[in-house]
Amino acid sequence: MKIFVDSAEIDEINKAKEYGMCDGVTTNPSLIKKAVDKLKSGGKKVDMANYISDICKVAGRDSPVSLEVVSLKAEDMVKEGVMLYGKFNGLMGNVVIKVPVSTSRQEGEEHYEGLKAIKDLSRRKIPVNATLVMTPEQALLAAKAGAAYVSPFAGRIDDYLRTKLGESFGKGDYFPAEGKHKDGQLVDDKGIASGVELVKRTMEILERYGMKTEVIAASLRNARQVREVALAGAHIATIPFDVLEEMIKHPKTFEGIVKFSEDVVPEYQKIFGD
Ligand code: E4P
Repeated sequence: MKIFVDSAEIDEINKAKEYGMCDGVTTNPSLIKKAVDKLKSGGKKVDMANYISDICKVAGRDSPVSLEVVSLKAEDMVKEGVMLYGKFNGLMGNVVIKVPVSTSRQEGEEHYEGLKAIKDLSRRKIPVNATLVMTPEQALLAAKAGAAYVSPFAGRIDDYLRTKLGESFGKGDYFPAEGKHKDGQLVDDKGIASGVELVKRTMEILERYGMKTEVIAASLRNARQVREVALAGAHIATIPFDVLEEMIKHPKTFEGIVKFSEDVVPEYQKIFGD
């Protein structure tokens, strides 16, 4: 499974690269806002074009960087996608355009603008990451429209189910892959009992039809969720930097390294020189 860094912070992308744990980067307007706010609070001015260029350069040639469009109409999203690709892909050849699978904000609005934009950009050979995917059906439609990647949002589906359950929860809290029951009934979202199940079913459908679209398990909130999307066979997990750090830690590893360090006898140490 490839690991993408779900961040627009250059320091984090840099560190993940140093760890050898960055096969790509995903950004969205909220992640860009977080990075920009941080820079501004540190008294820095932000030139967005330079900043995005730096993200693309730090990620490097073989690491796709998803950059999201902001408009809601297909025609405008296509213009933005073409512009972003034209402006930044020349640097490292790694730009992917992120397009919401649907941009309607309520019933009654046009639901197919996202899919139209995905289709148009894909036909122009611009790779698209279909984002805000909340059901396997949306993923199937995006894949059929030609998306190179689809991003099912595991954490947000868990949030949705927890809200249905009437639970209060923290962003990083674990939600079981098998779902939860209320009044003896499994609480689900049209048959999907957890974010991990969303990723699993999406994988099953795309694999069954031999589709080339890669599945990016997104909106991941904790290390155990990463394990479960890996077990579900996700091609890629896009992981926030704090979760990437959580993945490496364990108290028994800490304890073990303390003991091993204490037990190094001088005769053994000598082998390594002074
Ligand atoms: C990545 O592509 C998504 O934009 C991101 O994982 C969303 O995560 P969130 O639901 O924690 O905001």
